[in-house]
Amino acid sequence: MKTRITEMFGIERPIMQGGMHFVGFAELAAAVSNAGGLGIITALTQRTPEDLAKEIAKCRGLTDKPFGVNLTFLPSVNQPDYPGYIKAIIEGGVKIVETAGNNPVKWLPVLKENGIKVVHKCTAVRHALKAEAIGCDAVSVDGFECGGHPGEDDVPNMILLPRAAEELKIPFLASGGMADARSLVAALAMGADGMNMGTRFIATKEAPVHENVKQAIVAASELDTRLVMRPLRNTERVLNNAGVEKLLAKEKELGANIKFEDIIEEVAGVYPRIMLNGEMDAGAWSCGMVAGLIHDIPTCQELLDRIMIEATQIIRGRLEGMLAA
Ligand SMILES: Cc1cc2nc3c(=O)[nH]c(=O)nc-3n(C[C@H](O)[C@H](O)[C@H](O)COP(=O)(O)O)c2cc1C
Repeated sequence: MKTRITEMFGIERPIMQGGMHFVGFAELAAAVSNAGGLGIITALTQRTPEDLAKEIAKCRGLTDKPFGVNLTFLPSVNQPDYPGYIKAIIEGGVKIVETAGNNPVKWLPVLKENGIKVVHKCTAVRHALKAEAIGCDAVSVDGFECGGHPGEDDVPNMILLPRAAEELKIPFLASGGMADARSLVAALAMGADGMNMGTRFIATKEAPVHENVKQAIVAASELDTRLVMRPLRNTERVLNNAGVEKLLAKEKELGANIKFEDIIEEVAGVYPRIMLNGEMDAGAWSCGMVAGLIHDIPTCQELLDRIMIEATQIIRGRLEGMLAA
């Protein structure tokens, strides 16, 4: 399939794997890229820029296809070594960066000077327009249903994607709630040039996470996610578990007075415990409502092959058939 996104990134299929903390390692990024999509390594999961350089080199050993790196800009007091991570990206010859979390304007000149395409992930049309205005090459538009941080506007993709299409000139990927061929065809119908998936890629054979995590996603329904940290205006969609229920009870009890320190036990240091050790009640970890559409654990190749075959059947069979009738 050819879209503005496949052309821009030099990939065969308009399907991207979003950056995911403690999931987006070289093994997954390479598997997605080898299957014709765009795999992404998550920079901040690597403790230092040197570790990121090693992860990039490892990925290059696993695929000769294009892959990218996610740079998430966090509003934290102790800023990660972003110049160091960017140096590792440039020296590692990576040509695609997914930015997220905050306006990437400060880092765009150095990325662009080095021939890197920047796709910025955002949750609002106004942020997407800002990204376009500052020179991002593409955006990922993340609807309210997404796993991770949906922002504070709560606009789902049935509205957000056509709104983005009305306003944007640069290509965009539909993100949040995407799982299969139906998602891809719908995203293209609403004006997107491809789709970005997070949760779906965790439940794949190559995702280097504990088996408990994959099984939890397969077992979950679309009713099993919760929104946490809304009172802190740092809303995150997570899979419900005992730790999350404890967190929500604290939010209810403390109301508007809640501070990050009050919930630190349920949010800090949770990812390695969940993703590496499979401690499923440890606390808040991002997961999308799309878990309700995930029923198996295929390889990335099987997943992407199936999506493309079924997308063709939907377009040529179901949709054209309706017109012919
Ligand atoms: C476990 C997990 C961790 C994530 N970590 C990050 C991250 O570190 N940086 C980022 O930009 N997005 C992160 N995301 C968001 C994804 O890149 C993607 O935008 C989102 O999962 C799309 O929604 P979906 O899960 O419904 O497909 C994460 C998502 C999940 C599920």
